[in-house]
Amino acid sequence: MNRPLIIAHRGYSGKYPENTLIAFERAIECHCDMIELDVHLTKDSHLIVAHDHLLGRTVNGRGAIDSLSLSDLQKKDCGSWFKKEFSDQRMSSLKEVLIKINKRVSVNIEIKHETLKSPGHYKIMAEKVLSLIEELGYRDLIIISSFDEQILRKIRSMDATVRLGILDHESEKTLKFNLVRDIKAFSYHHNHIRLNSKNIQQMHNEGLKVYPYTANTVKSFEKLSSLNVDGIITNQVEDLREFLGVKI
Ligand code: G3P
Ligand code: CA
Repeated sequence: MNRPLIIAHRGYSGKYPENTLIAFERAIECHCDMIELDVHLTKDSHLIVAHDHLLGRTVNGRGAIDSLSLSDLQKKDCGSWFKKEFSDQRMSSLKEVLIKINKRVSVNIEIKHETLKSPGHYKIMAEKVLSLIEELGYRDLIIISSFDEQILRKIRSMDATVRLGILDHESEKTLKFNLVRDIKAFSYHHNHIRLNSKNIQQMHNEGLKVYPYTANTVKSFEKLSSLNVDGIITNQVEDLREFLGVKI
């Protein structure tokens, strides 16, 4: 394929509540190539899908994700904030989400750092993600990414081949190539506004796939595709598909 991959940011979050089953399902129906989602640890050390570690913005309730059990969180409404018609959406474990996606598309699991408060949490997070991928047969369909260097290093120390992506929001000039080499990264996920032909060439020279986030306008799609990125992380799945001329 010589077009950028369509990577649905938190599912089809431009039209549906982010990180919900309906947002993932609609993204697949709209022919995304990959789904990006966010993961935290619960109080009882399960993997829960959500962006914020605090409830309140997209999830009804208050407090932190790691002060609640998986079963408590699975009762939480995470759709009403977006529109009343999505009030049936409940928080999901990563396992539930991967089972529902059923290997129809690739998945970019972004590990969030806020609930990783001790070395033990890093170990549990790494073990849980890796064992789930094995259990469900997702190895060839997964990229694990994080802004947190420590979790990426931990995972690589436990698994030599799983695909790892480095998330970056800092300078366009100082890319994390030492980390790239240390963890044998597969991909580099930079803020799209930081990308230019020079740093993309440097990433490609390192053998990396370049997956910028989060581009939502035709102007940004034009810029990124002219720079030969390998995928575009977007909330606007259909707009990107139309821009790329992908037939359905
Ligand atoms: O993975 C790219 C992007 O999702 C990183 O930022 O805050 O949307 O998780 P955020
Ligand atoms: Ca994310």
